[in-house]
Amino acid sequence: MNNYLDISGVGIEFNTESGPFRALQNINLKIDKGEFISLIGHSGCGKSTVLNIVAGLYHATEGGVILDGKEVDQPGPDRAVVFQNHALLPWLTVYENVGIGVKEVFRKSKTRAEMREWIEHNLELVHMDHALHKLPSEISGGMKQRVGIARALAMQPKVLLMDEPFGALDALTRAHLQDSLMEIQSDLNNTVIMITHDVDEAVLLSDRIVMMSNGPAATIGEILEVDLPRPRERLALAENAHYNHLRQQVLRFLYEKQKNPADRQKRGFSATSDKASEVSKLKRDEAA
Ligand SMILES: Nc1ncnc2c1ncn2[C@@H]1O[C@H](COP(=O)(O)OP(=O)(O)OP(=O)(O)O)[C@@H](O)[C@H]1O
Ligand SMILES: [Mg+2]
Repeated sequence: MNNYLDISGVGIEFNTESGPFRALQNINLKIDKGEFISLIGHSGCGKSTVLNIVAGLYHATEGGVILDGKEVDQPGPDRAVVFQNHALLPWLTVYENVGIGVKEVFRKSKTRAEMREWIEHNLELVHMDHALHKLPSEISGGMKQRVGIARALAMQPKVLLMDEPFGALDALTRAHLQDSLMEIQSDLNNTVIMITHDVDEAVLLSDRIVMMSNGPAATIGEILEVDLPRPRERLALAENAHYNHLRQQVLRFLYEKQKNPADRQKRGFSATSDKASEVSKLKRDEAA
């Protein structure tokens, strides 16, 4: 079944004040059930737009998305989204934040006791069962991100969509969460699309890395198969020649084939501090 999620011929044009803007063109990607896909590409190329189309938040101008035989035309609980900045409701506890999604999905199929158990189980998966009754303001950024992931997992989505889920976290917290995510995914066999700017994260977690060309009219440039055996250990991989070869291929795509930010400035795009920090991060990656 190589067609669980089928993104086919997708393009999108936005109407902007200065006229139509073509963000994406002819995106084609078939994803297997249980596959972990990373989307990587320079800032502004259209990664979030792809995710938003799969989430049903944006409508493609051409082409479409089919998930498990059904066309995606609006948001639904079968596609849970985790954003970079944990969108928790600040007035609800950790438990209640996960509970909202669970009630939406399981109101008719689980009893109250079953729902309670399910909420607690998912918070255990992300090691947050010690803080059920805390408010978001009382926990750290990494913990909030864990709760966001638990909320998404608890909805048992067909696809988990993650937009730079660990982008705002320090390196150590990020590593812990990557490990948790790998464990959870090996248990549950979730189908995941994750956007990341982090080359190591992409290689560590993915079955395939989808590398996008620069916009406007961005499309898929290359797809890299990450054939490293699982479970994967970050320390062992650091010395693994094949791992290093794979990460070089991603770096080469980003720096040599899609040398983006400078080109874009020439074409009149402005470099935001966000883009500047991404470039310096990628440079650090390359130097490492
Ligand atoms: N609703 C919108 N209306 C107009 N233009 C948009 C809209 N959403 C995105 N764009 C444009 O589409 C392009 C792709 O944006 P997108 O947010 O998908 O990039 P991205 O790859 O996720 O970037 P980043 O890595 O910085 O998050 C950008 O040029 C952006 O300005
Ligand atoms: Mg984005």
